[in-house]
Amino acid sequence: MNQKWNPDSWKSKTALHQPNYLDEKKLEKTIKKMKKLPPLVFAGEVRSLKKELSKCVDGNGFLLQAGDCAESFAEFHPNYIRDTFRVIMQMAVILSFAAGVPVVKVGRLAGQFAKPRSSPTEEKNGKKLPSYLGDMINAINFDEKAREHDPERMIQAYNQAASTQNLLRAFAYGGYADLSTIQNWNLDFVKKSKQGSNFKVIADRISECLDFINACGINNKNARQLYETNFFISHEALLLPYESAFTRIDSTTGKWYDVSTHMVWIGDRTRQLNGAHVEFCKGISNPIGIKVGPSAKANEIIELVKTINPENEKGKIVLIVRMGAEKINQLFPQLLKQFKKLDLNVVWSCDPMHANIEKSKSGYKTRNFKNILREVKSFFKIHKNIGTYAGGIHLEMTGQNVTECIGGLQKISDKDLSSRYHTHCDPRLNASQSLELAFLMASNLKKS
Ligand code: PEP
Ligand code: CO
Repeated sequence: MNQKWNPDSWKSKTALHQPNYLDEKKLEKTIKKMKKLPPLVFAGEVRSLKKELSKCVDGNGFLLQAGDCAESFAEFHPNYIRDTFRVIMQMAVILSFAAGVPVVKVGRLAGQFAKPRSSPTEEKNGKKLPSYLGDMINAINFDEKAREHDPERMIQAYNQAASTQNLLRAFAYGGYADLSTIQNWNLDFVKKSKQGSNFKVIADRISECLDFINACGINNKNARQLYETNFFISHEALLLPYESAFTRIDSTTGKWYDVSTHMVWIGDRTRQLNGAHVEFCKGISNPIGIKVGPSAKANEIIELVKTINPENEKGKIVLIVRMGAEKINQLFPQLLKQFKKLDLNVVWSCDPMHANIEKSKSGYKTRNFKNILREVKSFFKIHKNIGTYAGGIHLEMTGQNVTECIGGLQKISDKDLSSRYHTHCDPRLNASQSLELAFLMASNLKKS
């Protein structure tokens, strides 16, 4: 670790996409308060995640990172958390059943509240206001007061993250994830669909296997893996005053951990080698994701990986490729070939969401399921051609029956978008589109 590094050393670097807090005193007071708040995760859990991720480097595991684009204070309900958890679990079962490898489950949840925006201001009917930067910073309503950057929102975000994490822990370790209850994971509105019945086929086969191994003496009473699951949380390490306030020394190892979440990632807009976000992330022991967009140069990303992971630790770095359905074929093979020449341990994950955003005719920010699928397929194919391993997927989805992305078996059209368009930021896959994608990926995974 860099000798000069400390949780605040990022302050000497340029920090992009940060709020402009006018009340310095209020900010200081909030940071002081946050430094005393209990951690949301433990360092030992973060090490377990790293161990699981290390398997995704060379083909013995697959990372499923999924959840909201932006969590919100208004859309906070235990049922929403349950439904998202349920769909992630279903997707994990579909993927691991097909690929025969364990699926590492990481939610974009319990802290995903801050957003980088393409413009610092938003204009509507001739009025110009600061952009909405996520509920942790300001509110979405289009008025002066709501759009002010308020440090106290960090405390509300922490509190919501704590309750969310508490419920996720209960689901993961309290019996809800028990494989013998797999038949109950299917959501009512998905049950009747093609994906719902495809899932039932897998669920029936798993139930049969469970009956068999039970007859052999292995069941949910004596095998922890059948009764509970590890479920990790993650968010973008964007809002640095928040992240650094939750960065503490682990008494077991003497190392620094960001205890607001298990895993963080650096966004495509804040991954400058000499920038504040990279400075912060290089000192913490959590696994770090790095978004790799179409403008990324291979040598730039290689430098980044070496800077953040100088010891080439396995399971530390996840490269989240988001180049777009069109550009991935031109850009990614070159980058991957450069990496192959070096012996860098990275998990290659595919984010088919962030470079496939379009504006629908009716004016909604949307994504076309066809393009999402095309990018995923190309990602697998490119890895296969080069002889590397496609180790994960990164998705924006929800367990709700929203209409935010066009296409899929439900044939959501531009006309349908307005009926249930609830996202605070980017359009998410709904429960049925998520399962559909999982089935399509499963067949690719099987092949690879
Ligand atoms: C995101 O994942 O929400 C995001 C903003 O992604 P990116 O940095 O890839 O644009
Ligand atoms: Co997003």
